Amino acid sequence: TSERTFVMVKPDGVQRGLVGRIVQRFEEKGLKIAAGKFMHISPELAQKHYEEHQEKPFFNDLVGFITSGPVFAVVLEGQDAIHISRLLIGKTDPKEAPAGTIRGDYGHVKEKNVIHGSDSLESADREIGLFFKPEEVLEYERSI
Ligand code: CMP
Repeated sequence: TSERTFVMVKPDGVQRGLVGRIVQRFEEKGLKIAAGKFMHISPELAQKHYEEHQEKPFFNDLVGFITSGPVFAVVLEGQDAIHISRLLIGKTDPKEAPAGTIRGDYGHVKEKNVIHGSDSLESADREIGLFFKPEEVLEYERSI
C-alpha cells in the first residue's frame, strides 16, 4: 500500500550543493514528491524533531547543526516509501553505508550525514505533521 515518508537534505547537503542530485535519486526510483520546502529550522522545531535523542550526549550539537543553515524538507509518497527511501539513503554512519547510497556516496562522518529519513510509519506521520501543513502535501498522479 502507498505510504508517505519525510526526508530532509541537512544543512551540510545544502551547503555542498547536493539538493538537486539527492532529490533526483528519489524521483528516478519512482517515488512521488508530495511536498517540498526550503527552510530554516527553528530551535523549537529541531528539539521536537529530535525529541527521541533528548537524553543523548550529542543532543545539543545535533540541534545546533540542524539549525545552522537551511534544509530542504520533502514528503515522498509511494508503495513502501519508508523502506525504499531508507535503502536509497543508507546507514546512519556514512562509513558503513555502501557506495550507491546517498550517504555512501556523499557522506563522510556521522555527525554530518547529508540527509534525514523517517524510520517508521509513526515517525513519518509525526515528522510530516511537524514540517508541513496538510494543504502543503499535494495529491496528483505520477507514473512509476
Ligand atoms: P539521523 O538518524 O538523521 O538523526 C539523528 C542523528 O544523530 C543522526 O542522523 C546522526 O547524524 C546523529 N548522530 C548519531 N550519533 C551521533 C554521535 N555520536 N555524535 C553526533 N551525532 C550523532
